[in-house]
Amino acid sequence: MIIKSKLPQSQATTFGHAAREAYWDFDHKNTPLNHGSFGACPLPVREARNQILAKIEANPDLYMRTTLYEDIEVARATACEWIDSEPLNTVFVQNATVGFNTVIRSLPLKKGDTIIYCSTTYGACEKTLKFLELRHGIKHVSVDIEYPMNDEEIVDVYRKAIDAHPSTVICLFDTVSSMPAAILPYNQLVKLCREKEVLSFIDGAHSIGLIPVSMRKTQPDFYVTNVHKWGYGVRGGAILYVAEEHHRLIHTLPVSHTYLDDSEDLEPEQEERRLVDRFTFIGTQDFSPYIAITAAFEFRKKIGGEAQIRKYCNDLAVKVGDLAAGQWRTEVLGHAGAMVTVRLPIPEEFLAAASEERKQQLFQLICDHPLTRGTYVPPIYHNGKMYVRFSAQVYNELEDYQVGIDAVNEALDIFFMEEVEEVQDMWVCV
Ligand SMILES: Cc1ncc(COP(=O)(O)O)c(C=O)c1O
Repeated sequence: MIIKSKLPQSQATTFGHAAREAYWDFDHKNTPLNHGSFGACPLPVREARNQILAKIEANPDLYMRTTLYEDIEVARATACEWIDSEPLNTVFVQNATVGFNTVIRSLPLKKGDTIIYCSTTYGACEKTLKFLELRHGIKHVSVDIEYPMNDEEIVDVYRKAIDAHPSTVICLFDTVSSMPAAILPYNQLVKLCREKEVLSFIDGAHSIGLIPVSMRKTQPDFYVTNVHKWGYGVRGGAILYVAEEHHRLIHTLPVSHTYLDDSEDLEPEQEERRLVDRFTFIGTQDFSPYIAITAAFEFRKKIGGEAQIRKYCNDLAVKVGDLAAGQWRTEVLGHAGAMVTVRLPIPEEFLAAASEERKQQLFQLICDHPLTRGTYVPPIYHNGKMYVRFSAQVYNELEDYQVGIDAVNEALDIFFMEEVEEVQDMWVCV
């Protein structure tokens, strides 16, 4: 049974605060400007999830032993439509971090093999690479991405790194990096990997709901996308794509009942289902985030569809960039669909001279202070400058961002007031 969300028949093509009122239940003191970190699941999707939970609890044995397998097939069909992939190459994992760990810790990599990634790779993935190096001697090499940089330059740094490291086995890159937010030339990078005969892993944590993707067109070796970020899914749902030739090699995390040795042959009918059958049940867990993907997909259609949602969010992000950069008299580093990264009005000379400890304090203040004002805009140091990232979503309007700008301004005032006092103290000491 497909559980459909109880969406009002009148379709909410009006985005902005009307959509916030209709479909989200944020605390009224919360000004959400950071959809990119954890997403925000709309009420109709949560209602559908509650129905799924009720269905499971009505008869857990029946559900876990039979119904789960039917529901997962339906959810998988939705996932495939969303990322344009083959059903037998498409499974669910809890999040992008699990997806990356699943693949990179299953591949039969050996001591001395090299994994190439980049300086804007998500921290959790980099830590996974560190673990592999310390535990198994699998090397990881980072290429520098320092914006402004164009697509050709990005592909070129990967090309040079592959050429410089003949032991390269796999490259990791994002669809859209988190901090700073930027769309990577992932299609060209997959082509490069194929040309150089190395594997490709696309970290698409930020992709469905943010940019259109097609596995049939891109044809990477591996790809993971969160549904709970930009897809409006329930937290704890992500789609992992594994190209057919790697099904034998990719094991679940944790390895579980469904384990089969790589060399174990199956009857043709079971063989083609090796990946999907392996990934359905790997221990008792909450499966509702996977099953609720259909409700998220339907909800998005009903409020206007992917193109309309993207248009509203991307247009708003452009206005947000202009607003913030205009007030700070700085510039936008770049847009990544609904995310925009804007430079803060902090002199580069100050950042060049400041101690790491002081810079860390500033960073922390820009993280912490806006929370006391009911908002959050993640900061980042990049290429000698400091930036913040804003996310735009259908529940936002331009005026929301003034709350974020003001909160960051207050944090800067607090920090630089202390800075002046420190300088005054230094004068007294002298
Ligand atoms: C680029 C990128 N990769 C991976 C992740 C990890 O996502 P999750 O916490 O859902 O595993 C994030 C989260 O923000 C991300 O931005």
